Amino acid sequence: MLLRFSFITLLACALGFGQGRIGRPAPEERIKAMDITTMSNGAGLPEGKGTAAAGKSIYKEKCETCHNEKLEGREGQYPGLVGGIGSINTPKPAKTVGSYWPYATTVFDYIRRAMPYDQPGSLSSDEVYAVVALILSANGIIGENVEMNKTSLPKVKMPNAGNFVPDARPDVKAKR
Ligand code: HEC
Repeated sequence: MLLRFSFITLLACALGFGQGRIGRPAPEERIKAMDITTMSNGAGLPEGKGTAAAGKSIYKEKCETCHNEKLEGREGQYPGLVGGIGSINTPKPAKTVGSYWPYATTVFDYIRRAMPYDQPGSLSSDEVYAVVALILSANGIIGENVEMNKTSLPKVKMPNAGNFVPDARPDVKAKR
């Protein structure tokens, strides 16, 4: 035990742990590449644009294998992205982007950083705007030719937006 501890300590010293010699300053471009947060009010949305019409081919190529032809998902495997509007307050709530998500902006944030599941971070801003527009349009929230960009997206009103309540725990100070 003692021997192992000494060995690890030695190794740690050799590697420079505890001496501030590990790593290097992060280059600006790398920080920028990871700094992609979009806030619910739209702050942080990038330049770019897209419509549902443009999103169709992108969806077919990059999303359909999992989320299925009509965005209905694959039961028990991949979530559906449409439907369920009005079901949240029933014994069988169907939680989808259309029925549940409070902001269109955070759908953008989520897709931009996490989708396609097998290739996260690979979509251009135009592609993300287009697939977000497609999902909103498939849910009947916007029209097929309505352009989504950093000005129009935060204005989209999601059907379930008014049904979230602020966290009631006394130590949570966040105001919404
Ligand atoms: C390889 C399969 C796969 C591909 C391809 C894929 N997704 Fe997903 N997607 C998933 C899985 C799995 C989840 C659930 C992830 C989780 O809950 O952690 C998900 C979740 C989502 C959600 C959140 C659904 C919700 O209500 O929680 C959205 C929106 C979404 N995907 C959009 C897309 C879009 C747009 C594309 C194409 C650009 C795409 N996905 C491609 C597998 C995939």
